[in-house]
Amino acid sequence: MNPDLIISQDQLKAGDVHWQSPSNIAIIKYWGKHGIQLPQNPSLSFTLQNALTETKLSYAPKESPSKGIELDFWFEEQQNNVFGAKVANFLEQLIPTFPFLEQLSLKIQSVNSFPHSAGIASSASSMSALALCLCSLEDQFFGTLGDDVAFDRKASNIARLGSGSASRSIFAGAAVWGQTNLVAGSSDEFAVSIEERLHPVFKTLHDDILIVSDAEKPVSSRAGHALMNDNPYASTRYAQANQRLDILLQALEAGDLEKFGKITENEALTLHGLMMTSNPSYLLMEPQTISIIQAIRRYRKETQIPVYFTLDAGPNVHMLYPEEHIASVRGFVHGELASMLHDGVYIPDFVGEGPVEV
Ligand code: PMV
Repeated sequence: MNPDLIISQDQLKAGDVHWQSPSNIAIIKYWGKHGIQLPQNPSLSFTLQNALTETKLSYAPKESPSKGIELDFWFEEQQNNVFGAKVANFLEQLIPTFPFLEQLSLKIQSVNSFPHSAGIASSASSMSALALCLCSLEDQFFGTLGDDVAFDRKASNIARLGSGSASRSIFAGAAVWGQTNLVAGSSDEFAVSIEERLHPVFKTLHDDILIVSDAEKPVSSRAGHALMNDNPYASTRYAQANQRLDILLQALEAGDLEKFGKITENEALTLHGLMMTSNPSYLLMEPQTISIIQAIRRYRKETQIPVYFTLDAGPNVHMLYPEEHIASVRGFVHGELASMLHDGVYIPDFVGEGPVEV
């Protein structure tokens, strides 16, 4: 408990904090964790622009002092007690870090920019938006996080406790989470920006998210990470992620799309390979996922356009390509891929500028 972060009676007041925070797409995947949300290997992702969560946290002094979290949670403009209970539980765990939360009555209103049914992982955007709100709240009352570096670091650390991948969404462009000698200042506890290391071609990279299914995942990320503890390939995998990070960083700096693409696609298939070799094994790809992957590879071969796929923990395909090829690639999506998509839906996105305080 940090006793310095208790609001004095005369400072207790009502107000709100409000953030928009994006999702991200990992190129080097985080899969396997230990301790309290610590990664088994460093991961690297691009921060997206359009797929985001907007979260408003309103607060007022509790009517009468009590222990614990008092929370009214709204999702997509409706009160949501199921999500609310999960968020309240998360906030309870954060009381030692933010003891003033026990002094306030909280209302959280959260909306996603993408359809809830699109099957896109929203934990990175929602947990990072919530973490940013909590850090702004601390700063409003105590002025402790005026320094941007300290603010981002704490927000990333708190986001990580909610969802590991969320730690990376705090930063514009691209970020690395997990200690590695390849990135100065990197840590298992929070992510750091590597935006300044990106060649211009990667700063405007597109990511069209091709929706194959909107069904809820049969195996949660939490369960998937846990299965890595007994996966026979785990230690080789963690070593491989470190080696690939080295090569990927060189490719990102040099603007080497081919090297980038090879690692990107292999990481996606490795992630799903790990799922298939877990015990019990499971499959998150759908037949259309494979058809789309094959179509992307065929299209790349025929046109020589550097377009590559990656996958998250689900069946949807992220298609990555440089800005200059947008017209041809969109023709390909509408002409060849549309029939394989769920309701023909894809979400056009690109490497973005990071969270915004509203
Ligand atoms: O953030 P979590 O615990 O939901 O884990 C997600 C991990 C992947 O999205 C599959 C990969 C990654 O690094 O984002």
